[in-house]
Amino acid sequence: MKAVENMDNQEFSMDDLVALCKRRGFIFQASDIYGGINGFWDYGPLGVELKNNLRDAWWRDMVLCPPIGPDGQPLDIKGLDTSIIQNPKAWVASGHVGGFNDPMVDCKESKLRYRADHLVIYKNKENGKMLAFLEGELDNSQLKKLKKLGGSDNLSDYDTALMTDLDASEYPNIVGPDVKDAGSLTEPRAFNMMFKTYVGATATEDDAAYLRPETAQGIFLNYRNVLSSSRVKPPFGIAQIGKAFRNEVTPRNFIFRSREFEQMEMEWFCHPDEAKMWMDFWMTERHNWWKSMGLSDANMILRPHDKDELSHYAKEGYGTSDIEFKWPFTRPGYGELEGIAHRCAFDLTQHQEHSGTKMEYVDPQAPDDRFIPHVIEPAAGLTRGVLAVLSEAYTVDESRPSKMFMKFKPELAPVKAAILPLVAKDGMPEVAQKLYMSLRKKMVTEIDVKQNIGKRYARHDEIGTPFCLTIDTQTLEDQTITVRHRDTMEQERISLDNAEKYLTEKLNA
Ligand code: GAP
Repeated sequence: MKAVENMDNQEFSMDDLVALCKRRGFIFQASDIYGGINGFWDYGPLGVELKNNLRDAWWRDMVLCPPIGPDGQPLDIKGLDTSIIQNPKAWVASGHVGGFNDPMVDCKESKLRYRADHLVIYKNKENGKMLAFLEGELDNSQLKKLKKLGGSDNLSDYDTALMTDLDASEYPNIVGPDVKDAGSLTEPRAFNMMFKTYVGATATEDDAAYLRPETAQGIFLNYRNVLSSSRVKPPFGIAQIGKAFRNEVTPRNFIFRSREFEQMEMEWFCHPDEAKMWMDFWMTERHNWWKSMGLSDANMILRPHDKDELSHYAKEGYGTSDIEFKWPFTRPGYGELEGIAHRCAFDLTQHQEHSGTKMEYVDPQAPDDRFIPHVIEPAAGLTRGVLAVLSEAYTVDESRPSKMFMKFKPELAPVKAAILPLVAKDGMPEVAQKLYMSLRKKMVTEIDVKQNIGKRYARHDEIGTPFCLTIDTQTLEDQTITVRHRDTMEQERISLDNAEKYLTEKLNA
């Protein structure tokens, strides 16, 4: 068991971020008016822009303008958009029907179900009392429970371990997360996380199909199609962005772990002898990419998986490394943002065996060198990436009326520029409207006439607009406007005619 570390000073909590997302229209609970549905989220007017901006940046940097390889030449990566529902045999071959299981624990008293590897057990070093909490920080009510039933609310009095690391003989002594007495948790049991549905009207078991739990398999199923229709040969990649569905036992932490989410995955097909080199290449490349999206070095680490964490496809070879982020609910620790796995030849070999279709690559120039390519897979969550970008951007600043601002990289900001006439009279709205009409086709621009200027700045701080352009009395005299910079709140005057050029330069800097 590990000793509990002290928590960082947290400047903002997950609750602050969730409240902002709702108030300003980034993310809403799905089916809000019916009390929601656990594990599902809707992206509001600003959230969809933020998500699309992150998605488009990934697509540009992976497919349209892929990285430069070790030989100084651009890599070859093709895009794909495959069906969410595939022939169910594909999921048997991929191992998801037989193996996509998580150890799951039921509470006989509360009737709630938890993933065993998400239950953190706090064991009092003095009296041996054991309490289970869902992973993440302990909130005030949990600390109260720890004190009442465990004997102390000082975390240094406890050792912690995941439920999966404990010996089965200890289970009866654990107090479950939602009850007061020990002994209600069952032993962990396997639970398949794929959503099942039925294709066609008859809905018999013969018509059963699954919603994809990862976008990756659609790529493997089309490996031969891409090879024969595009002018590629290993090493090359196939990339896809799209929805994935997992019936997570404990969806939690806002959009971090949901039941419907989006992935950005790329399968890199290479010669088995080059797998190690490409694994290292993609780890560095992907880490740098997240930095280029504004995530700071201080908030990210690369963590190789321990042997016992590896997925079924990554047991051989060079394993998996995660890019982890310091989430508001894991601080001072980290949690997964993206996994980079060496999937070996697992998937293509499985599909070859199950479908009878040859997956071997034969180089026409060297026909004796036949091989089933090895795969290096950088697999990122798009929606989880949105949460990382939101968490990184949230900046507390007590000096502002909004007490905080969202420091998005301008490329990702949902709104790039706001045009604000100081008052709604004296011809200012007309000048603002003219400027708006000329800028709106070049960049996402908002014109905002109502409320006092302080309130309007506060709103744009909260939604992370990098530039506010203000039209005031001086504008009417000398055709200049003020530009207010979001991060510094500094203001400068530029000429009205120069606004588009000025913003274009700043946004592309
Ligand atoms: N094809 C490999 C694969 O799917 P994974 O680690 O299970 O690997 C890749 O998923 C990424 O997808 C994760 O790093 C995470 O960002 C995202 N992801 C996985 N499950 C998720 C969930 N339930 N909710 C949100 N994002 C999830």
